[in-house]
Amino acid sequence: MQFGQLQLKSNLFLSPLAGYTNLPFRLVLREVGGLSLATTDLVNARSLLERNAKALKLIETNEADSPFAVQLFGAVPEEMRDAAQYLESIGVDSIDINMGCPVRKVCKTGGGSAMMTELDDTAHLVKRMVDAVNIPITAKMRLGWDDKNITAPDLVRVLENVGVAAIFIHGRTREQGFTGTVNLTGIRQVVEAARAIPVIGNGDITTPESAKHMMDATGCHGVSMGRGAFYNPWIFKHTEHLLRTGELLPEPTFAERVRVMRRHFDLMLEVFGEQRGCLMFRKVAPWYAKRFGPVKPFNKAVVLISTRDDFESALADYLDWRQQFADADGELTERYRQGPMVPTFMQDDEPAVAKRKAIPVPKGPVEVW
Ligand SMILES: Cc1cc2nc3c(=O)[nH]c(=O)nc-3n(C[C@H](O)[C@H](O)[C@H](O)COP(=O)(O)O)c2cc1C
Repeated sequence: MQFGQLQLKSNLFLSPLAGYTNLPFRLVLREVGGLSLATTDLVNARSLLERNAKALKLIETNEADSPFAVQLFGAVPEEMRDAAQYLESIGVDSIDINMGCPVRKVCKTGGGSAMMTELDDTAHLVKRMVDAVNIPITAKMRLGWDDKNITAPDLVRVLENVGVAAIFIHGRTREQGFTGTVNLTGIRQVVEAARAIPVIGNGDITTPESAKHMMDATGCHGVSMGRGAFYNPWIFKHTEHLLRTGELLPEPTFAERVRVMRRHFDLMLEVFGEQRGCLMFRKVAPWYAKRFGPVKPFNKAVVLISTRDDFESALADYLDWRQQFADADGELTERYRQGPMVPTFMQDDEPAVAKRKAIPVPKGPVEVW
């Protein structure tokens, strides 16, 4: 897989999740394996140019966090160009442009999904960026504004002509928000619209099999995972293995899940400090816990942590309590075991669909991503 001149070891990508895809999370995923290029949350180009402290924290990275992309949003061509040059000057490997954000605050300024409806303006803005730097510029978008305006294929043609190196496509419209099913036919149309650049499919992938299914059904060259990576940090490693060998690796043990959660916690404290790291981890731990089996007391305690000691005692109490449901190795006994969530695009048996849960949309700084 190549984005322009940038050679990538894997065709599996991390989707930006504002508030979540920070340095600690990216490092955890890289340590678990299978992930190549990972991106920041969206960053406002103007804030970056003003060296705003929050924007600089969003692009914090280190040597282990490589290759590394920053996602920019903005609608002023000069600002986007200057921000791209700045990012190139500090060693960022690739820049992604947000064209999919449905949040009103972003669209109002002409950024995010609004870019999908103004093809000429968007082409002009992107060309200014492509011409100004040597690193790849990619674009992330939804299928279009709504069902009647599926503009992604047209936009992809325009963007490829001005030099975009790859496309990330979330298979929903802006109007859909996170409802309904990811439209694999829509993703296929985007793949077919591109002449030579890679198209990366995105949306609802929670298992290695669903990643492979999206690639088989749409012809996309790779896939990107957001919530699925949060729900299952092993998804990159296991998908890479499945695509390479045709075999599924066994699910991680409970001890491994706890080890990785603890590592994530340690990195959060290292990067954000104890107080802020603990506050942020309140939103992270329940995602790990989704695969722990019976977990209510842990979720209740972990959303109140303010210190490392609070976390350690929440975990210790939980490990004690959980023993009643587990065997000597800590694995759940048959009665309490549950399979992973399956995306709706993999569920063809209608009645079962309603019974199965869709992957939740985390609460965060943006509610309607
Ligand atoms: C909480 C949250 C924050 C998000 N933030 C961003 C963002 O900063 N930039 C972006 O392009 N997409 C953002 N998205 C969209 C995701 O990158 C992705 O396209 C979407 O969640 C579908 O993929 P998934 O099912 O693998 O999560 C966000 C989604 C969620 C749920």
